[in-house]
Amino acid sequence: MRIGIIGVGTVGASVANILRDNKNVITARAGCEIIPAIGVVSNLNKKRDVEIELTDDVEKVLNDESIDVIVELMGGIEKPYEIIKKALKNGKAVVTANKALLAYHRYELQEIAGDTAFEYEAAVAGGIPIINALRDGLTANHIESIRGIMNGTCNYMLTKMINEGVDYETILKEAQELGYAEADPTFDVGGFDAAHKLLILGSIAYGIDAKPEDILIEGIQNISHEDIDFANEFNYSIKLLTIAKKVGKEIELRVHPSLIPTTEMISKVDGVMNGVSVVGDKVGETMYYGAGAGGDATASAVIANIIDIARRGKGSPMLGFEKPHGEDIRLMSKDDIRTKYYLRFRVEDKAGVLAKIATILGERNISIEKMIQKPLNRTCSHILLSTHTSVEKDIIEALKTIEEAGVVTAKPAMIRIED
Ligand SMILES: NC(=O)c1ccc[n+]([C@@H]2O[C@H](COP(=O)([O-])OP(=O)(O)OC[C@H]3O[C@@H](n4cnc5c(N)ncnc54)[C@H](OP(=O)(O)O)[C@@H]3O)[C@@H](O)[C@H]2O)c1
Repeated sequence: MRIGIIGVGTVGASVANILRDNKNVITARAGCEIIPAIGVVSNLNKKRDVEIELTDDVEKVLNDESIDVIVELMGGIEKPYEIIKKALKNGKAVVTANKALLAYHRYELQEIAGDTAFEYEAAVAGGIPIINALRDGLTANHIESIRGIMNGTCNYMLTKMINEGVDYETILKEAQELGYAEADPTFDVGGFDAAHKLLILGSIAYGIDAKPEDILIEGIQNISHEDIDFANEFNYSIKLLTIAKKVGKEIELRVHPSLIPTTEMISKVDGVMNGVSVVGDKVGETMYYGAGAGGDATASAVIANIIDIARRGKGSPMLGFEKPHGEDIRLMSKDDIRTKYYLRFRVEDKAGVLAKIATILGERNISIEKMIQKPLNRTCSHILLSTHTSVEKDIIEALKTIEEAGVVTAKPAMIRIED
C-alpha cells in the first residue's frame, strides 16, 4: 500500500521514519508493506532528517493513481479541507491528525467519505488510542461522561503552578522556552485546542454536531495563587478539563479550568501528559493515559489508522454518527450547566460585606458549602468560597450583581468544581 504524506514536519517525518524503522512488524500486522511513497512540503530546500521523496506539488500527489492513502499532516483549516475533499473524491483513503480542521468540517468530510476510509485517531490526545476505545472497545455502552486532560501545555503550566508555586507569567515564559507553548499561546492557554478535541469526542460518543462557538470554552489565564492556595487547602487539584456529559437527553460539552478532588485518578495526570476518563453505563470508569503530543507518539496513532485501512480496506462509521433509534439527544445550553463553583471576591475589610455577598447568592438559590477569608493587607481581604451544586446562569448573574453593587474591589473570579 502506497501512501502520500502531505506535510513532512514533526509528525509527518516521524510517520515516514517509523514506517522504515518498524517495517517488519508493521508489514506483518497490516498484511502488506506500507510504503511512504512521497511527501509534500512547502519548502524543498529545508534540511530534514527523513528519507522520502519530496515535492511541493500537492496536486501531483492527489492525482497519482498509485497512491492509496493520503495522510494529511500539514495543519491549518481551509487548505487541508480542500485537499482532503479532493483526495476522498478521487477515491483515496485519508488519515489526518488535524483537530482544528475536524472541529469545523468533520461532518462534511465524513459524508463525502461515505464508505472510503477517513480516520483521525491522532487528532485527539495524540498517542492515546481514545477514538479506538470509544468506537470499538466501549461500543456496548452508553457513554455517561468523558473527562479529559488533553492539552499538555496547560497541564504542564498548572502542574508547576500548583506543585512549585510558580506564577502564571513565569511558567508561560518557561513553557515557551522549552517549546511546549507557542509564541502566541492563546490557542493552548485559551482552551481552544482542547475544545477542538472535545468536539471530536462529542461527535463520536453522542453524535453532537457542534462548532467551537457553540460550547463553553474558558482558558487558564486568570488562575491566581489565591485559587491555588484554596485548592491546596481543600485537597483539590486544578486542571484544564474537557467535559462531555450526558444529563437526561442533553449533552454538556465544556472546556474550563476545574477543581478536582485529589483522590480522583484524573487529578494525578501531571506535566505534559494527557489523560482521559470515560464512564460507560456497563463498564464503569475506564482511564487512558499517555503522551498527547510529540512526533513519534502522534505518528503511532496515525500509523495505527493506516494499518487498519490496510486490513479492512474501508472506513467504519463513527459511534454516535447514527443516533440510536428514538433518541433525541441535543447539546445543552451553556446557561443550564449545573455544577459546584469556587468563587473568589476581593473585598474591603468592613462590616456587612460578607452578608451582602451571601444575600445576593441566596436570592439565586446558591448556597455556600465552604468558606475562608484571607487578609491581603490592612484594609482588604479575599473571600474564597465553594458552593453546592448551582446553575451556571444563576452564578453568572449573581457575580454580575455583586460586582455592580460595589461590594467588591475587583472583578470576582470563578472556577467550576468537578467531583
Ligand atoms: N506536533 C504534535 O505533537 C501534534 C500532535 C497531535 C496532532 N498534531 C497535528 O498534526 C498536524 C501536523 O503537525 P506538525 O507539528 O507535524 O506540524 P509542522 O511540524 O509544522 O509540519 C507541517 C508540515 O506541513 C508542511 N506544509 C505546511 N503548509 C504547507 C502547504 N501549504 N503546502 C505544502 N506543505 C505544507 C510543512 O512544510 P515545510 O516543512 O516545508 O515547512 C511541514 O512539512 C497538525 O494538524 C497538528 O495539529 C500535531
